[in-house]
This record gives sequence, structure tokens and C-alpha cells, in this order.
Amino acid sequence: MSGDRRAAIHVRPEPVHARPEREEPSMKQYLRLGVNIDHVATIRNARGGVHPDPVRAATQAVKAGADGITAHLREDRRHISDGDIERLTDQLTVPLNFEMAATDEMLEIALRHKPHAACIVPEKREEQTTEGGLDVAAGHDVLAPYVGRLVDAGIRVSMFIEADPAQLDAARAVGAPVVELHTGAYCDARDADRPAELVRIVKAAAHAEDIGLECHAGHGLTFDTVSPVAAIPTIVELNIGHFLIGEAIFGGLESSIKRMRALMDRVRADAVGKRSA
Ligand code: PXP
Repeated sequence: MSGDRRAAIHVRPEPVHARPEREEPSMKQYLRLGVNIDHVATIRNARGGVHPDPVRAATQAVKAGADGITAHLREDRRHISDGDIERLTDQLTVPLNFEMAATDEMLEIALRHKPHAACIVPEKREEQTTEGGLDVAAGHDVLAPYVGRLVDAGIRVSMFIEADPAQLDAARAVGAPVVELHTGAYCDARDADRPAELVRIVKAAAHAEDIGLECHAGHGLTFDTVSPVAAIPTIVELNIGHFLIGEAIFGGLESSIKRMRALMDRVRADAVGKRSA
């Protein structure tokens, strides 16, 4: 990357502060569902063969109401493979959201395949899953060139972050148009602590709108935890994987996705109805 380009990327926009007296956040009518198919690949890789095929799962997910497919190509290739990304890019009829760590290898792959979206996530080899959000505030100088290259290639970039206003401000400063709020702490909280975790997400989603960022959310969502998140008016997309794939064991993939889709639609319709009543 040329020195000029780096310098251009590193210019931080003026900080934007929340309106002192905020109006009610606007109500987005439709909530998209991105289905994460990583764990279909986890099962396949347990035996090292080709079954079950994550691309077939993606096709079924679309039939069942997924608006997009999410796949995380990890550095250690523990689930999704390079070949999966290639086939998804060729065969998907809906947008692909490519989850990636901010590394030169992943940047090269993203620029080669040009998915609709790229979600930059933190990645540690020893973690079981993406355990927390990306520290964009601390990582500005490292992350900005990656975001810049992806945005310049026409890829919609989101940053996977904790529901923390400072991280949202940092995501904006780094040049990302979208944030995905990590819902893991909310989903994993004990019943007594969950309301406070939800409030953090509600506030962060409102802040996203204030500073002009599109807001998504995901991680750990289930039939039991999705509704309060789906009701948050400024969130426009949820990305859900592990639970849906697990539920598919009991009732099939289409059934688990259709049920999630119906829940989300009902909650969003109720929220829109309440707003206009
Ligand atoms: N969003 C992001 C950015 C993720 O990293 C993950 C997990 O890979 C998800 C959503 C989906 O989380 P889960 O599989 O727990 O539903």
C-alpha cells in the first residue's frame, strides 16, 4: 500500500456526538436474517469428508427465509474452507457476509472474491468461538487500512464490537459504515443480569443511528433470547448460526430457520404496530 493511501485512510473524521435531546430512534420496518453456516462445516470436518455440505445448507437456508449467508473463514480453517467460500461466491443468490480477521491473508481473499459484505472480527486461535468484540478504539491504526481497502473495493464493511459507545465511535472513525453488536454477553447472562445487558445493546443501537452507522447484531441468539433484540428499532440485521444448526438436528434446517424468521417478523411487526398506534 502506498504511503499516500495510508495517510488518507488514517485521517479521522470529526467526532460526532449524540444529539443532546434525542428523538425516538427511527423504526426500521424489516429485520434481515443472516444465517451463519460455519457449524455445518464443523460437522463435515469432524470426519474430513464432504458431508454435510455448507453450500447445500446455505441454499436451504435461503429457501427457508434467510436474507443472507454468513461464513467465517478462520485462520486455522477449523470449519469453513477456502473452497466453501469459492463455491458460496459462485452459487449464492443472496448476499454473502464474509467474516474475517484483519490480516493480509484474509484481505487478499476478500478482495479476490468481493463478497457483498465483510465483517471484521477478532480472532484468537485458542478460543472456541468469537468470544468478544473487536477493540476498534485501540486498533485504529491497524484496522483503518484494511477497512479502507475493503470499502474501496465496494464491499460493505462491518465491525463486530461490544455494545459500547466508544467502540461505535471508533468504528465510525475507522471508516466502517456498519457495526454488528456482539450479543454474547446478553445471551449468556443469568436471568437477573440480562436486562442490564439488553439496555447496553438498546443504547448502542440508538447511538449507531445518531452517528450514522447501520446496526446489526448477533452471537448466541436463540428462540428464547432473540425477541428483545429483534424489537430494537434501529437494528436491521441479525446474524444467527450455532443455535439454528443445532436445532436442525431435531426438526430440520428449514424448520429451525422458518421458526426464527417468523419470530423475528412477529416481533418487528408488533414493534412497528405499537409505534404507529
Ligand atoms: N456474528 C458474528 C460476527 C459472529 O462471529 C458469529 C459467530 O461466528 C455470529 C454472528 C453468529 O453467532 P452464533 O453462531 O452464536 O449464532
